[in-house]
Amino acid sequence: MKKADVIIVGSGIASLQLARHLTKDLNVIVITKSLLKHSNSTCAQGGIAAAIGPRDNPYLHYLDTLEAGCHLNHSQSVMQLAEEAPALVAELIKDGCQFDTDETGAVLLGKEGAHSHRRIVHGGGDQTGKRIVEGLIQHLSSNISIYENEFVFELLLDDQGRCYGVKSKDKENSVHTFTAPYVVLSTGGCGQLYSFTSNADTITGDGLALAYMAGAELADMEFIQFHPTLLYSNGKTKGLVSEAVRGEGAILINEMGERIMENVHPLKDLAPRHIVAQNIYEWLRKGLRIYLDISSITDFPVKFPTVTTLCEKHGIDLSRGRIPVAPGAHFAMGGVQTDSIGRTNVEGLYALGETACTGVHGANRLASNSLLEGLMFGKRLAQHINCTPAKHMPIHSTKKMASSIFPALPEKDLIQQSMMDQVGIVRSAQGLTEQIKWLESFQLEKFYESRLDLLTIEQITRFFMMQTAWLITDSAIEREESRGGHYRSDFPEERTYWQTKKVLKQRSLERR
Ligand code: SIN
Repeated sequence: MKKADVIIVGSGIASLQLARHLTKDLNVIVITKSLLKHSNSTCAQGGIAAAIGPRDNPYLHYLDTLEAGCHLNHSQSVMQLAEEAPALVAELIKDGCQFDTDETGAVLLGKEGAHSHRRIVHGGGDQTGKRIVEGLIQHLSSNISIYENEFVFELLLDDQGRCYGVKSKDKENSVHTFTAPYVVLSTGGCGQLYSFTSNADTITGDGLALAYMAGAELADMEFIQFHPTLLYSNGKTKGLVSEAVRGEGAILINEMGERIMENVHPLKDLAPRHIVAQNIYEWLRKGLRIYLDISSITDFPVKFPTVTTLCEKHGIDLSRGRIPVAPGAHFAMGGVQTDSIGRTNVEGLYALGETACTGVHGANRLASNSLLEGLMFGKRLAQHINCTPAKHMPIHSTKKMASSIFPALPEKDLIQQSMMDQVGIVRSAQGLTEQIKWLESFQLEKFYESRLDLLTIEQITRFFMMQTAWLITDSAIEREESRGGHYRSDFPEERTYWQTKKVLKQRSLERR
């Protein structure tokens, strides 16, 4: 058993920002199921939104965030996010992170959907996430121990329901126990629940399922953002084509070369993501193809090296000026409900980044606000922990009887396809009801009191995917309206009744 002051599960930007800002006298453990640099944050192309341009200001950033979020956001947190963004970017620059600049040294600002101003800070063209992650890793000090290829499969709770640690498995299937007064979940969202996704292969809803099983409250799970433009080849999506490409002038066209976003939204190709994604989806459903016309962009490979490499890898000839695209799951707006410093309702348990529902995104996240959220809340939680000395309490945990009987679960492909078809871009009561019945037929509750350590990592992953799929589907059934990343063909309008309502999920622990 390893003891620490802080355990951080996951290694994206929020985790690294937390680790980087914790004081050096704390014993910190970062546990990641793959490699330290393998995360959604590393893949992030667009950048960080910050109102630092001429004629821009945090209030305008705040308004754009609310508008994209369909006014379901936590308004005060959004204002703080917009206000703190310039300082957070400045801090990264001070730490040595190289963002793209013009010949005078001024930071270059890109444009993305639903932003009223150019305010996207980026690095290496479309390699922003990689630059920030590498920069933060360089600042990790020796009090931080990194455990790679360790899959956390259980949160440890004492008799009072307090979280005091985690159990993990390594690649050889050996089980390890880590304890700490602060346990932070920052494992990203759940993009891999869908057959079309921009997400890294590790993003399977682990933190969401772990938190739910521990009795944490989850909110807004029905809101899944589908990014409009993933590279589409041979009937599959292959990775992200950044919205910054449209920000630089690319337009969405059909096979005949006609613009598809004309007359759909005043912002046309740079309309909020859910609107663009839904429109592309309708074209694809009719068996037609949609392309990004990039012919107006000069020096494309220099501005977008990641997209260029992706296209080359999949045999797309960029000299033809067209990239075939389709929408795919990109970001979970909901997650583990937290307060302004990342605290959950379970004592000792915290959540950050995409795993958390801080309320800043509302029903649909504004582009390039996710790295920003990770930076702001990662630093805040560090400040809280630094001035709240960790109390190592005696642990009272009565071993419960655990069963070793597990229902068989469907294969990963089947989970992904069913979520895409029934709980994807367009949803309806019929599809959602079929999906919930299907999910519940696997008796997921039998896993709650079972010895997960007897399963392989692959089996536990499928359980986490099914559990998270259930959370999304059940929430989507309840919300009888359409808003942001939740579109119901049977309730196509926004409804005032839902404006201030949240769908919350919390597993009852009465039997514990
Ligand atoms: C993109 O580059 O299009 C993704 C950026 C984001 O999701 O914020």
